[in-house]
Amino acid sequence: MDLSDRPRAALGVWPTPLQFVDGLWMKREDLSGFGFGGNKVRKLEFLLGAAVARGQQHVVTFGALQSNHVRATAAACARLGLHLDAIAVQAVPRSDADYTGSGNALLTELFGATRHVVPDDDAAGALALELLAEHGDDLAIIMPGGSDRIGALGHVDSALELYSQLEFEPYEVVVAASTCGTMAGLVIGLAAAEVDTVVRGVCVYHSREETEATLRALLAETADELGVAVPDDDRWILDDSQFGPGYGIPTEAGLAEIHRLATTAGITLDPVYSAKAYAAIDRDPDRRRRTVFMHTGGGPSLFAYRSALA
Ligand SMILES: Cc1ncc(COP(=O)(O)O)c(C=O)c1O
Repeated sequence: MDLSDRPRAALGVWPTPLQFVDGLWMKREDLSGFGFGGNKVRKLEFLLGAAVARGQQHVVTFGALQSNHVRATAAACARLGLHLDAIAVQAVPRSDADYTGSGNALLTELFGATRHVVPDDDAAGALALELLAEHGDDLAIIMPGGSDRIGALGHVDSALELYSQLEFEPYEVVVAASTCGTMAGLVIGLAAAEVDTVVRGVCVYHSREETEATLRALLAETADELGVAVPDDDRWILDDSQFGPGYGIPTEAGLAEIHRLATTAGITLDPVYSAKAYAAIDRDPDRRRRTVFMHTGGGPSLFAYRSALA
């Protein structure tokens, strides 16, 4: 599968390392080398590459107040000389200063985005329409999480890169699943590489049913974009065992994994995404050593969760 003819903005540092840590293989997308890293950088290379090819100067995107995606988009727009309107939705029931003003919220402003805080998705949609009326064709709309048929290409790319680094066929690739662009790209890329590896998506944003609907739609759209067949259902699993009380609310198991990995390996997980995914990994040592954890980053939000971590 060749992605080389796609418009792509050069942002990250590739390949990201594949390291053996804590009895499993870790694909260090947290070290993607740009704007505090994470899984959004590859998506943005394709999404903003397409915007630049269309000659667009203005960008709008959406996310929670502590969205890693919005922070990475702000950094990417700064690098590419684009103006970002970042619509921050109050999706998590917190209004304390750590949550509203530190971590990704702080960085998004530091990277020069205009940040608008709105109460809900309806208000976010209304504001996006106003921006569209103002900028017309000059506005690139980047979907929440950067998850559409173009953003998902970023993780077709990470799957192909992972395959080129592997000397064995993994039993599972484990990844946090929210807007599902990362998971959809991985499923399609690993199917193209013809490995039998199953992708386990760990639900952190919506229920398993809602996440499945999002994933199926993206698999179909991304396969269509690439002109390939939609991968069979046995190539992926959705796991809601670590969902806990809801999106953006830490779990005991996730917090325990943050502390354990920080103190034994010097590696940071985040409480919203990567720690919940990490807590879902099989404990059996034999299966574990054949598992790849997609470390999708999220470190900046640790500062917003200071009180939960203390
Ligand atoms: C740190 C981190 N991990 C995982 C995800 C999930 O990726 P996706 O939205 O592609 O499912 C996100 C984004 O929402 C994220 O910020």
